[in-house]
Amino acid sequence: MRTYLRFVSLIAAVLIIVINTLKTSAQETVIPIETKDNAIVLQVTADKHLNIIYFGKKLSDKNEYQNITHFFPLDGNGVFNSAYTTTTRNLFEPAIAITNADGNKTIDLVYVSHAFDKISDDVSEVQVKLKDPVYNIDVTLFYKLYNSENVIEQWSVIENHQKGNISLNKYASANLLVHAKSYWLKHYYGGWAEEMRPEETQLTHGIKTLDSKLGARADYFQPPSFMVSLDKPSAEDDGDVLIGNLEWSGNYRIDFELDPTDNLKLLAGINNYASDYSLKPNTPFETPKLVYTLSHHGAGEASRNLHTWARKYQIVDGMGPRLTLLNNWESTYFDFNEPKLSGLLKDTKKLGVDLFLLDDGWFGNKYPRNDDHAGLGDWQVNKAKLPNGIAHLVKEAKDDGVKFGIWVEPEMVNPKSELYEKHPDWVVKQPKRDEYTMRNQFVLDLSNPKVQDFVFNVVDGLFTQNPDLAYIKWDCNAVMYNAYSANEKDQSNFYVDYVKGLYSVLEKLRTKYPKVPMMLCSGGGGRVDYGALKYFTEYWPSDDTEPIERVFIQWEYSYLYPALASSNHVTDWGKEPIKFRVDVAMMGKLGFDIVVSKLSPDQLAFCQQAIKNYGDFSEAIWHGDQYRLQSPWDNDAASLMYVDAAKTRGIMFNYLVNNRYHKGTFAPIKLKGLDAGKKYRIKEINLYPGTRSGIKEGVYSGDFLMTVGINPEVREGRTSVVLAIEEEKS
Ligand code: GLA
Repeated sequence: MRTYLRFVSLIAAVLIIVINTLKTSAQETVIPIETKDNAIVLQVTADKHLNIIYFGKKLSDKNEYQNITHFFPLDGNGVFNSAYTTTTRNLFEPAIAITNADGNKTIDLVYVSHAFDKISDDVSEVQVKLKDPVYNIDVTLFYKLYNSENVIEQWSVIENHQKGNISLNKYASANLLVHAKSYWLKHYYGGWAEEMRPEETQLTHGIKTLDSKLGARADYFQPPSFMVSLDKPSAEDDGDVLIGNLEWSGNYRIDFELDPTDNLKLLAGINNYASDYSLKPNTPFETPKLVYTLSHHGAGEASRNLHTWARKYQIVDGMGPRLTLLNNWESTYFDFNEPKLSGLLKDTKKLGVDLFLLDDGWFGNKYPRNDDHAGLGDWQVNKAKLPNGIAHLVKEAKDDGVKFGIWVEPEMVNPKSELYEKHPDWVVKQPKRDEYTMRNQFVLDLSNPKVQDFVFNVVDGLFTQNPDLAYIKWDCNAVMYNAYSANEKDQSNFYVDYVKGLYSVLEKLRTKYPKVPMMLCSGGGGRVDYGALKYFTEYWPSDDTEPIERVFIQWEYSYLYPALASSNHVTDWGKEPIKFRVDVAMMGKLGFDIVVSKLSPDQLAFCQQAIKNYGDFSEAIWHGDQYRLQSPWDNDAASLMYVDAAKTRGIMFNYLVNNRYHKGTFAPIKLKGLDAGKKYRIKEINLYPGTRSGIKEGVYSGDFLMTVGINPEVREGRTSVVLAIEEEKS
C-alpha cells in the first residue's frame, strides 16, 4: 500500500512539473501582485528564473503586464532583475548567499509554484516557491498585500534540506527593483536626544547602504526606515514616493544599488555582519518583514497609507483609545518615596490625566537603584523607598481615581546587582576581554531560553501581583559592545537569536495580556521600528523633549508612524511657555512629566482645559488622517492637521520654530483633507487664560479652507496656535 501511495505521489509530482514546464515553455508565466493602485509583476522566464518586470501603478488589463518583458535591459544573463537575487550568474549584490553543507558557496533558485491566499476582504498573500536545482534548498517568497492601504509586507523563508547545516551568508527579506530617471533617498541619522535628523540625496551609481550593528536595537545612529522618491526629491502631495521600514529590532542592512542602466535594486533584511547564520536541516528560517508603500501622490499619501495599515494591523490596539498620563521621571528622577508618590498620585487626578507612571528607581535592595550604577536586574521593590510595595500604590491610585503604570528594563543588568552575581553567564560580554558597558549596564542574553523565562516573569510577575496595573514603560538603554553568548554553540547565530528571543518573550506576554498599553522606549527612540511596535501601543520618540526640537522630531517620525503611537510628554526642557509645550505634545499621545504642584493657577487651569480639548479631538488625532501643511524645515512656522474619517472634526496645530524678529505666518495656510462641500466652524482653542483668539474665527466652506486657507496668526506672543475645525450643520 505504502509503495503504491509513494508511486501515485511521484506521478502527481511529475505531472505538476510537466504542467509547469508546459506553461512556461508555451509562454513565460507572469505573476501580478496587486494592491488597490499598484502592481509588482513577477515573471517566470523560459529557464524558470523568477524576475521582477514591473513595480509601479497597476494596469487595468492584467494581460498587458506580459508586454513589459525586458523593461530593464542590462546584461545577457537575464538574472539582473531577479526577484530574489542569488550568487549564480549574477553580477550584482545578492539577496541570498549561502555556504552549502559540502562547502560549496553558490546558490541558484528556480521557480516551483505559486499560490494566492485570501485572508480577508482587504488582505491577501502571495507565496512563490523557489528551489535550488542542484543543492537541496527551498526558498519561499511571501508578499502580504493590504489592498486598500496599498501596503505590502514582504519576507522570505529559507529551508535547508541538506544532510548537514548550511550557513546563510546573506538572507534578505525583500528584493525590489524600480526604474526611473533619478532616485532620491531620504533617510535619517542621529544619536541620543537627536533622533530623526533627515537627509535627502540623489542616489548615484553603486551601492548606498543603511545599516546598524548595535545588537539589542536597530537604531542609535540611523533607523531602519527609508523614503525613495522617483525622478525628483520627495514632495508632500505629488510624485512617486516609496516609504519602507524593516520590521526588525536588531542589526539591519538596507542596500540601494543603482546599476549602470539606471535600475534601482533595493535589498532589505537582517544585517549579515558577523552573522553567517548556521541553519540546521529541516528548520525553516523566516526573515523579518519589510513593510512598504508606494504612493503616486507624494509622501503625504504614503505616510497616511502606512498610518492606516499600522493602526489596523500592526500596532497593539491601534484602533483603540490611549491613556493620557503623568510620569515622574523628570520631576523626581531616582529620588522618591511613598509620601512623595502619594502626592504625585493626587496631582495626576488634579491635572486631569488618566494614569500615573512610576519610572526608574523603585527596585533593588542589596544594591538599591538610587542612580543608574546599580540594581538593574533585581526586580524586587526597594523596601526603604516603598515599604508597602507596588500593590499599595496601585490601590492608592485606584482610590484617587487614576490608573497606575510602571517602568521596567527587563533585558538589562548592572554589574552591581544580585542578578549579575548569580548568573554571570546570562550576560552578553566577551569572556576573555575587558568589559564594556553602556549607561553602566549590560544586555542580558535573550538567546538563552532561561533568560527569556526570567524576562517574561519580571513583567508577568508585576501583572499577577497587581492585576490593576494598567501600563508598562519598557526601556532598553544599552547596545552590545562585546557580542558573545555563553548559550550559543555557534556565535554567528547570536545577533539574530537575540532578537528572536526578545520577540518570543513579547509574543508570550501579548498572548497573555493582549491589549494592556505598553510604551516602547530605548534611551529615547532607539527601538522605534515596526518589528517592535507589533507588541507595543506607543513609542518614546526621544529623550529630547525641548519643544522646538520636538516639533522637528515628531514631524519626521510622522512620515512613518501614526500620531497615536507617539508618546509626547510635556516637560521642563527648554524655555518655551507651558502653552507651547502642551500644544506640541498634543500632536501625538499626550503625557506630562512636570511638577504639577509648581504650576501657577493659570498654568494649571490651562493644562486642565487643554487635556479636555485633547479628549474632544482625540478621535481625529488618534484615528484620523494626518496632513502636514507647512514644514518646520522651510518655514518660520510648522503647520499640520488631523481630520476624522467622516471629515466632520479636525484639529490644526501651528508652531513658531524661528524666534527671530518679526517671524510668523503672514498669509493663509491651506488646509487639506476636508470635504469641499461641507461648512466648518474654525475656532481657536487652547487659549491661555486671559488671552483672546487672534484669528478670524467663523464658518468657512471646506472649499474655501482648502483653496484659500486660514492664517493662524502665529507670531511673537502667539508662538503656538491650535484651531478646532468642526462641521457646521445648517
Ligand atoms: C531612559 C528613558 C527615560 C527614563 C530613564 C530612566 O533614559 O529614555 O525616559 O525612563 O531611562 O532611567
